[in-house]
Amino acid sequence: MKKSIMVAVAENQAIGKDNGLVWHLPADLKYFKETTMGHWVIMGRKTFESFGNPLPGRPHIVITRNPDYNAKGHRLAESLQQAFEIAAAENEKEVFVLGGGEIYKHAVDLADMMYVTEVHETFEGDTFFPEIDLSVWQEVSRKDFSADDKNKYAFSFVIYRRRGAGW
Ligand SMILES: NC(=O)c1ccc[n+]([C@@H]2O[C@H](COP(=O)([O-])OP(=O)(O)OC[C@H]3O[C@@H](n4cnc5c(N)ncnc54)[C@H](OP(=O)(O)O)[C@@H]3O)[C@@H](O)[C@H]2O)c1
Repeated sequence: MKKSIMVAVAENQAIGKDNGLVWHLPADLKYFKETTMGHWVIMGRKTFESFGNPLPGRPHIVITRNPDYNAKGHRLAESLQQAFEIAAAENEKEVFVLGGGEIYKHAVDLADMMYVTEVHETFEGDTFFPEIDLSVWQEVSRKDFSADDKNKYAFSFVIYRRRGAGW
């Protein structure tokens, strides 16, 4: 099973503030939906709550230390490793780690791929994604987009593969 991270990151590594996103980019929401649809998705309890409602069409695994947490019919895991085991047992071929900051810190050491939306702007944030270590990660694809009527900031869809990963 391929283990992939999906994240949108500002120039200063910010990914969120006050348990929400700090920008609105419809093109990125569309890309996120297309990439993750039908796959098992993993997230920390705070990110799960930040969605409001679970994402349709994607079985969720919520990481929490609270075994009684109500994940609205979705699965619970007590660690990222356990979440990967659950998805693998369900025969998932590519599972997506969707954040947030606490979970990404572990995930960058375990993932095979990263789908990173670079948002070309600096934002005030309280949650950050680690700097990408290019001695560990190889950029395999990049698509750049300018700001437009609907998307206020320029952005890039970048895909990284762990060097030496068999994918
Ligand atoms: N830009 C993006 O792409 C993106 C994506 C996702 C999220 N975000 C943003 O990120 C922020 C949320 O991130 P966050 O770091 O505050 O929270 P988070 O990573 O979503 O969730 C943290 C929670 O996960 C559980 N957890 C974390 N580590 C654990 C471990 N080792 N073992 C067991 N459970 C563990 C704990 O839940 P319990 O407290 O229940 O035990 C912890 O409170 C929001 O602002 C959100 O909008 C941005």
